[in-house]
Amino acid sequence: MRSFLFPLLLLLALTSAAQQVDPYHYSSRKYMEAKRFAVSSAHPLASGAGAQIMREGGNAVDAAIAVQLALAVVYPQAGNLGGGGFMVARMADGRSVTIDYREKAPGRSHRDMYLDSAGNPVTARSLEGHLAAGVPGTVAGLVASQAYGRLPLSKLIAPAIVLAEKGFAITEQEAHGLNRLRDMFIRLNTQPNAFVKDTPWKTGDTLIQQDLANTLRRIAKKGGKGFYSGETARLVAAEMRRGGGIITETDMAAYKAVVRQPLEFMFRGYTVITMPLPSSGGIGLQQMLGMVEDFPLEKTGFHSPEAVQRMIEAERRAYADRAEYLGDPDFVKVPVAQLTDKKYLQERIADYVAGKPSPSKSIKAGGPFESTETTHLSVVDAEGNAVSVTTTLNGSYGSKVVVGGAGFLLNNEMDDFSVKPGAPNLYGLIGTEANAIAPGKRMLSCMTPTIVLKNGKPYMVTGTPGGSTIITSLFQTLVNDIVFGMDAKSNVNAPKFHHQWWPEDVRIEKEFPAATKAALEKMGYPVKVGSPWSRTELIRIVDGKIEAVGDWRGDDSVAGE
Ligand code: GLY
Repeated sequence: MRSFLFPLLLLLALTSAAQQVDPYHYSSRKYMEAKRFAVSSAHPLASGAGAQIMREGGNAVDAAIAVQLALAVVYPQAGNLGGGGFMVARMADGRSVTIDYREKAPGRSHRDMYLDSAGNPVTARSLEGHLAAGVPGTVAGLVASQAYGRLPLSKLIAPAIVLAEKGFAITEQEAHGLNRLRDMFIRLNTQPNAFVKDTPWKTGDTLIQQDLANTLRRIAKKGGKGFYSGETARLVAAEMRRGGGIITETDMAAYKAVVRQPLEFMFRGYTVITMPLPSSGGIGLQQMLGMVEDFPLEKTGFHSPEAVQRMIEAERRAYADRAEYLGDPDFVKVPVAQLTDKKYLQERIADYVAGKPSPSKSIKAGGPFESTETTHLSVVDAEGNAVSVTTTLNGSYGSKVVVGGAGFLLNNEMDDFSVKPGAPNLYGLIGTEANAIAPGKRMLSCMTPTIVLKNGKPYMVTGTPGGSTIITSLFQTLVNDIVFGMDAKSNVNAPKFHHQWWPEDVRIEKEFPAATKAALEKMGYPVKVGSPWSRTELIRIVDGKIEAVGDWRGDDSVAGE
């Protein structure tokens, strides 16, 4: 018996090793058809880690946890331990669930903490350095997600530990990001860190993160306690003291992820399951879809001036409502039922005039436009479970602060609060009192991890990064498929447009049709061409066949079998 088992086990181990992605030689795979399971994420090594976990018996939730942990190592610009995120899952037994692990304002935060003595916002304080960080939620979220998985955390975290300890070859985009922000990594940190070296980073250089590996090991051993108490929490608090931040060990110990009822609605016969507050994403998506549902988009055609104009006007109204009403539901009363009521949405768009922009209220212009912050991953498994996760540090590499001795970056999520009600944030978004800072409150988000069901079964598992553009990108992904019948690859790669009530501009990607741009300008829309944004990860299941697509805009990559 023994002599038979040993070669079999060796063969299995070798097969499994051969299927794993080599961290020093890998490339992105943008599309695949799979029979059993698939992952789409921002990095080939992270997608590979998720696929490996499913080969080893994990389900889609286990894989999503492993992908997030791997992203915290190989995609430090947005993958994280020091940030937060949302998981939306549809389990094969019909349960739908969301887990909210959004960051929280520290106990010593206060409403006006980013205003100068004249009452003006000091943007650098909410965006850069120690004071910009909220209490991280990711690790609590991953531990809470385990209720829906089956493998131990030590197994899910193992690929991330190896990648941090032995290193991996960085991509061209990563090298560019690290070089671009080198001065900030030096200026904003109190201790040396793995992201700064004497010579510029090059594609293929090995990034080793030993401090991060040690933190991951503490989490592997003690779960949430390995992060929110003991050595890691002590290192966070010490970093704060050195750098003038306010997160304490008490804040860390008090952090809890929350299981929330998903926002669920119908659009043209499909069931959309998405993230409720404190994300504005689900409500915004429902509002936008509701305002175009009865409009004959398919007759006017994909990217026709008529279809795009109607969608822009839906976006304008949804973003105006976001600014006025939305905030953390544990702190403010939000009229969600009224805002998403079908009749309300019909009335909201009733003043729309074909061929003419509806002017937005005049408010000071918004901030700079960034493209790749945040990251999304989609996973389906062989049992019929589907998981959609969006996770973030907010800006690229968050606050740029690496926790000394713990090796992970902290978020700059405090900027997602209305730092001064009425003034725009990083994404030019304006908010009111509903999203004002208060200790223990979660800042409003745009992250919109989404699952679409067709006849009660997962059909699309999707989401994207992109700050304020997240909701409008998702809006287009759903409309492109459900209304225009577009195939999955064309859908992800289709050029996007974006409008958010304020600023007044419509942004388009370079490849957007010139004739439609000219037609919109003739109608009176100020149109601006922006650098590519959004990185949609889409898995679609059609007649039992799984299609996985990674966005062309980044290092995004799919894996599966
Ligand atoms: N920090 C981007 C978002 O949560 O929407």
